[in-house]
Amino acid sequence: MSELPATYRKVVVTRPSRDFRAATDIVEVPMPKPGPGQLLIKTLYAGVNASDLNISAGFYFADEPPFDTGVEATGEVVAVGADVNGFKVGDHVLSVMLGGGYREYNIVDAAMAIPIPQATPEITATAVGALTALMALDIAGEMRSNEIVLITAAAGGVGNFAVQIAKQAGNHVIGTCSTPEKAEELRRLGCDRVIVYTQEDMNTVLQTEYPQGVNLVLEGVGTDQFDSSVANLAKLGRVVIIGFISEYKGEPQVITAPRIYHQLLWKSATLRGFLYSDYPERIPEYLGQVMQLVLEGKLTALVDDTPFYGVEQVADAVEHLHSGKNKGKVLVRF
Ligand SMILES: NC(=O)c1ccc[n+]([C@@H]2O[C@H](COP(=O)([O-])OP(=O)(O)OC[C@H]3O[C@@H](n4cnc5c(N)ncnc54)[C@H](OP(=O)(O)O)[C@@H]3O)[C@@H](O)[C@H]2O)c1
Repeated sequence: MSELPATYRKVVVTRPSRDFRAATDIVEVPMPKPGPGQLLIKTLYAGVNASDLNISAGFYFADEPPFDTGVEATGEVVAVGADVNGFKVGDHVLSVMLGGGYREYNIVDAAMAIPIPQATPEITATAVGALTALMALDIAGEMRSNEIVLITAAAGGVGNFAVQIAKQAGNHVIGTCSTPEKAEELRRLGCDRVIVYTQEDMNTVLQTEYPQGVNLVLEGVGTDQFDSSVANLAKLGRVVIIGFISEYKGEPQVITAPRIYHQLLWKSATLRGFLYSDYPERIPEYLGQVMQLVLEGKLTALVDDTPFYGVEQVADAVEHLHSGKNKGKVLVRF
């Protein structure tokens, strides 16, 4: 490790807040040496996630700050600890770990490192985006074929993969997004109907064009899009709640409405929350599957083309995602 710098930088939460920029600092720390069974990885790409605000708010941590930030990253092995088999300096790997993304170097257990041919934007985008889409549709959504599947935030990091996966499973796919440019991309990815919710009312479109209802919804936006999804479910319909980005920046909206069972019982409908991290034992199987599909060209990763570089631009990247301007997965390049 003689050629490695003595220190590296990472983004840490020091003042937990939903405002990622205000919550975080860039700190310089000593370069660690990998212990037995560990790898030292030089980060090349880190994925940006809607939930970075939940991380900066401290929702994922039981301990006091500082907390490390970021989740998925791809990079190059620069040092290998004792008792590591199957990895050597120069190999490229993918890792998915809380706090493992926004840092120039990272120590990763070799058992948790996924070998990849090359760290690329597409492979980095696959880690959480495609993984969440496939796991949520399959495990919580019990996705089948010949159904009507609705994906909200369809042109986002998770949504773009969900559209392709639902379409390839033989479903009619509806996607929501905010701009005509995103809509064009969604049609290319396989959406049969795109609802540009800034131009047409989602509830009206669903009521008039899908009077039989929607069978499965992958819902990550919350508020109005959640309400329209539940209101337009078919009999035996399922809504999988993967997030509610429209409420990440502020306090929960408090509404007055009849209890949700009034909408569910008469359709034998299901509302189900899903976090991929609650199924750790299933991640390797699903990650292997989506990685294979991307490498074979059967799934295309939609990567946002706004460039962000290094720890200095992590907060800019997080704010870009939360502005809703991103088309596909937002990445930070190191
Ligand atoms: N459960 C899990 O395991 C898991 C894992 C990863 C992500 N997620 C969830 O999946 C959802 C998507 O996450 P992502 O990281 O892939 O982000 P993303 O979809 O790449 O970006 C967020 C998109 O949400 C849309 N959006 C709608 N209302 C918004 C609002 N009020 N503020 C900001 N954006 C809004 C925007 O697209 P339009 O402007 O086109 O609407 C924006 O581009 C989030 O809810 C996230 O928490 C869940």
